[in-house]
Amino acid sequence: MKTENLDFLFQPITIGKLDLSNRIVMAPMTRGFSPDGIPDSNVAAYYRRRAENEVGLIITEGTLINHPAAAEGLGRPNFYGKHALAGWAKVVEEVHKVDGKIIPQLWHVGMARQIQGQNPNPEALPIGPSGIDVISGKKVTQPMTRDEIHGIVDAFGEAANQAKRLGFDGIEIHGAHGYLIDQFFWARTNQRKDEYGGDLAARTRFAIEIIKACRSAVGNDFPIIFRFSQWKMGHYHEKMANNPEELASFLTPLSDAGIDIFHASTRRYWEPEFMNSPLNLAGWAKKLTGKPTISVGSVGLDTNVVDFFTEGKGANHSSLTPLLEKLTHNEFDLVAVGRALLADPSWAVKVHHHRESELISFTKAAMKTLF
Ligand SMILES: Cc1cc2nc3c(=O)[nH]c(=O)nc-3n(C[C@H](O)[C@H](O)[C@H](O)COP(=O)(O)O)c2cc1C
Repeated sequence: MKTENLDFLFQPITIGKLDLSNRIVMAPMTRGFSPDGIPDSNVAAYYRRRAENEVGLIITEGTLINHPAAAEGLGRPNFYGKHALAGWAKVVEEVHKVDGKIIPQLWHVGMARQIQGQNPNPEALPIGPSGIDVISGKKVTQPMTRDEIHGIVDAFGEAANQAKRLGFDGIEIHGAHGYLIDQFFWARTNQRKDEYGGDLAARTRFAIEIIKACRSAVGNDFPIIFRFSQWKMGHYHEKMANNPEELASFLTPLSDAGIDIFHASTRRYWEPEFMNSPLNLAGWAKKLTGKPTISVGSVGLDTNVVDFFTEGKGANHSSLTPLLEKLTHNEFDLVAVGRALLADPSWAVKVHHHRESELISFTKAAMKTLF
């Protein structure tokens, strides 16, 4: 690993009002450590540990907007209500104490909520554009009504408003992986005939309304990141956009609605997104929208996240050289790191100071105790 390339990873960057000490972002990672939806002092300490160990920007685990069916599973943190918001205020305080930066990921799971699953408000049915389950493709509930759509848009706007009030450094809207917003993007789960359905560009309407609601809640200076992915849970080879033109038709309206940074979620950052170009998805998003982007996917690890969880493969440290080359060429601006930072809060410090021999290997089984 060449020192000058590493310097680039640890170079500060300013994006609008966001001053970051380096290019390393902690990727959003769901946890089940907020009983009754309330993040406590352990959650604050968990994020502070990463902030004081040279993580430039923390994106929190997915946090729930104010809707009874927003969650899949128990212990996910709410982003509404007096007690949960007081917990988040403490998280912000702890991270800021050590000069870290933190933004919440705002989330609604939509049809990924299982009717028989263990969920808060078990009586609340899952909601989605056409009531279609993401994995099976079967219709299990009624399509969302316009009133429901408007209610969700307002709930995202209110969460953005609270994020700003609590002193967060921005927000990330979760539009990836087959959750609610992505269910509107994807033709398989959005079969609506009204203004929220249609071609890929038309299917961005719900997201655009959410982005505009968030923007109007926080004003022009507050950073808004939008996370998107081609892949969906259970459908890892899915591509909504098959070429740069289709990707542009998808990203341009989102960009114009008020996004500052795109977070392009892939499983392997080194894979070219389309033929005849080495650019990955974050590279294309930057090229097509002119906005700064975050890349993600197996940074510093030799196993991707899906194989890690579904096949139980262990993860070992792998070279950062291909990443540093892309970063140095300005293909993207920031680099999100998931499991490596979950397993080891000091990952960034060890990388920075060439302490490779201290970087740990870990397995899915070990993960649960490492949070
Ligand atoms: C335990 C775990 C929970 C995750 N939860 C979320 C989440 O809440 N929101 C999200 O957008 N991505 C989530 N992801 C995906 C990560 O943000 C990241 O994109 C993925 O792990 C790939 O990065 P990595 O290879 O560095 O782990 C999760 C990943 C893991 C490992």
